[in-house]
Amino acid sequence: MKLVIAADPAELALTVAQAVAAFIRANPGRLLSLAAGDTPLAALRELVSMQQRGEVDLNSVGYVGLDEWGGLGPADPGSCIEVMNRHFYHPAGIRPENLCVFNGLAADPEADAAAVLELVARRGPLGLTLLGIGMNGHLGFNEPGTSPDFIGGVVTLDDVTREVGRKYFAGRTPGGTGITLGLGTLGRADRILLMATGEKKRAILTRIAASPDDPALPASHFVNHPAATWYLDRAAAPDTV
Ligand code: F6R
Repeated sequence: MKLVIAADPAELALTVAQAVAAFIRANPGRLLSLAAGDTPLAALRELVSMQQRGEVDLNSVGYVGLDEWGGLGPADPGSCIEVMNRHFYHPAGIRPENLCVFNGLAADPEADAAAVLELVARRGPLGLTLLGIGMNGHLGFNEPGTSPDFIGGVVTLDDVTREVGRKYFAGRTPGGTGITLGLGTLGRADRILLMATGEKKRAILTRIAASPDDPALPASHFVNHPAATWYLDRAAAPDTV
């Protein structure tokens, strides 16, 4: 497990933003997939600040959405695209031609997901993905039991994901489906950055670190992945590391 441990979330955000910016500068034209959720937001805001200071051109790469809640779109506060628009795509001025995301409102979600996956196949593999760790060990919406070969598509959400997901929706429980890039697609990225902060993530990270390739813990498939680096703050770091 390749680990970077920062003193606190602010230091971690800076470290992650610097790693992502360095990749973007060295790899124009590549595709990135960045998680929504709470964990990466400070790092995403830092990337926007770096661009404002002229340190990186965030439009020199393309972006593909990592995931989306079924039935939700850009007008729904808390949807992945709404969060990413608010914190990253809009303040960074990402041009539409540089962005491809899952449409949670699509009449045929499977066909919409297939089109996104086709773009990744054509332009990919991913250059870099920045992932947050779910309280059940999920990545994107790759829920417990997901095959490491899953390319992506429409999935049934785990109960833990729906319960934890209430924090994004003012206490309302999200619906039962999600759309996601799969572990197989994420695992082909040149760089996989897995990020977690806070005491509440320590128990799941302790389990993940102790159980590489455990089907019950999707993130554990990346414990020994050669392209993966785990970025944790001290509070989230397992006692064993
Ligand atoms: C969000 C996503 C999820 C989150 C994970 C952690 O786009 O893909 O997998 O990264 O649930 O969420 P937070 O960061 O809110 O703890």
